[in-house]
Amino acid sequence: MESAQKTIAYLKTLLRNYQYQYYVINEPDIPDAEYDRLMENLRQLETENPNLLTQDSPTQCIGGSCLSSVFKQVHHKIPMLSLDTVSDESSFLAFYQRLKKRLNISSNITLCCELKLDGLAVSLLYLNGRLVRASTRGDGLIGEDITANVRTISIIPKHLIGNNIPDYLEVRGEVFMSHAGFKKINQAAYRDGHKIFSNPRNAASGSLRHLDPCITAKRPLTFMCYGLGFSKGRAMPCSHIACLQYFKVWGLPVSNYMRLCYSSREVIRFYHDAEINRPFFGFDIDGIVIKVDNLELQRKIGSSSHAPRWAIAFKFLAQEVMTRVNNVEFRVGRTGVITPVAQLEPIRIAGVLVSRATLHNMHEIDRLGLKIGDNVVIRRAGDVIPQIISVVKSDIDAHPILKSITVPKQCPGCGSKIQFISSESTVRCTGGLSCPAQRKSAIRHFASRKALNINGIGKKIIDQLVDKEYINNPADLFMLTIDQLISLEGVGQKLAQNIIDALIISKKTTFARFIYALGISKIGLVAAENLASYFVTLNLLLSADLKTLSSAHGIGQAAANHLKEFFDNASNREIIRVLVVEVGIYW
Ligand code: IVH
Repeated sequence: MESAQKTIAYLKTLLRNYQYQYYVINEPDIPDAEYDRLMENLRQLETENPNLLTQDSPTQCIGGSCLSSVFKQVHHKIPMLSLDTVSDESSFLAFYQRLKKRLNISSNITLCCELKLDGLAVSLLYLNGRLVRASTRGDGLIGEDITANVRTISIIPKHLIGNNIPDYLEVRGEVFMSHAGFKKINQAAYRDGHKIFSNPRNAASGSLRHLDPCITAKRPLTFMCYGLGFSKGRAMPCSHIACLQYFKVWGLPVSNYMRLCYSSREVIRFYHDAEINRPFFGFDIDGIVIKVDNLELQRKIGSSSHAPRWAIAFKFLAQEVMTRVNNVEFRVGRTGVITPVAQLEPIRIAGVLVSRATLHNMHEIDRLGLKIGDNVVIRRAGDVIPQIISVVKSDIDAHPILKSITVPKQCPGCGSKIQFISSESTVRCTGGLSCPAQRKSAIRHFASRKALNINGIGKKIIDQLVDKEYINNPADLFMLTIDQLISLEGVGQKLAQNIIDALIISKKTTFARFIYALGISKIGLVAAENLASYFVTLNLLLSADLKTLSSAHGIGQAAANHLKEFFDNASNREIIRVLVVEVGIYW
């Protein structure tokens, strides 16, 4: 009991702090899923210890409050409530059964399913069809007057059009930012050295609640209506979806992606369809919202102090989660670039176990202010490699000893000297093909489909060939014997012969493929093709100076530098000579 009391007090403090970060200053530093988990823990403890439940608990209030010194206050005529959430089918089915029980009916209930937009709730007041006020949700009862800012959002009509518009009409909806808009403002922020927003929701919130409406005007904000607040002067339909259709006729933006569902099965289908379509909407959604469509039934069912009982948010699995950085390793890539990779405390994101995240370069580590032992927010969207979004600064349980991350002085693959290229913010190994880490990936690249396309030679075989020291560079591939190949694990007589045949076939290639196969930094297929058609012969390419190299179409200064450095290296030139003169590669 005493320990439950302590945990409840601890969770309340933690959650109040996070609510302030999220709703008031727009800078949450933990992911939504972590917040939901803490809230669920608190709710659970309060259910088990009802005598410890207080009205000011974060489970009982909406969470927002106002930057009252900044914006005027708006008292909402009808409270702007939050939504209870479920995140699995059985919890949704339990909600559906509760609805039936509350209405005392056994037949199905018509439900309106919509997308759960990930932005911030806004209430718009139209008097005689004219936009007179816009406000945030705030704590649900009192919000902030953001009229001047909302007026700058072009998609929000300043005057409604059409007939039968109530004299007093308060509509509610979500202001949010599309992925394209988010990318655009972050690119500009990066260019101008301003603060980068960690996700579109923060960007929307920060932009909408900016003190200067001129700044809001420059931000690509958008809006969609999802409900009626209050109306007077004209009758509104008694179905939720019909109200939304009226809004649309009056010029208000309403999502087309919604459906009336007549059974729980249909709702579940809508949920899965929305999840499949999620990457293609062009804006963030974090689930669907399911509402009883009939407004009279909504009134009958009623609301708690913080959420309606006639609606529920059915959330998708989180794409952002929190975990700890256990270590940072430095990996040598094919072109010698050394990339820091965070080793994470393994964690599931949307069903996938993740234990590593790329950190790109040292600049990224500085930007994040990352140390080993930090708790971090990681995101995995689509098939993209997990990214570290931010460090959780407010972490109360922070690791006692945080360790700074330092660039190794020598290459972790071969011990050669390391070179720092400040223009690219990258660190590179100077060992070239003598570095085993580069050797394996360089040979793999040389044999790959778009390069020399040597069938049958994959990672496993190349790793063994290098480890057994049968080969040190791409040219050595052509000196392999059948016996050497057969001695490898997983290679029989037939495969060995196929590899030898594939090596012979690969000798006839194109100049562009040959250039690409060399694996020079910044020289992809297109650049290789440009170089091939500009220089025509290998001799002209090898003897070109920096100026001539950069005069080829599509070859910038950085690419020209990498070409020059590669061709100036004696061992690289020797490998090219062997490939052309001794192996007999031709085009
Ligand atoms: S209805 C009384 N519909 O989700 C019910 N809310 O977590 C009020 N949201 O504050 C909300 N999409 O900002 C509703 N289609 C949708 C929504 C939606 C996003 C937001 C809204 C609300 C929050 C609750």
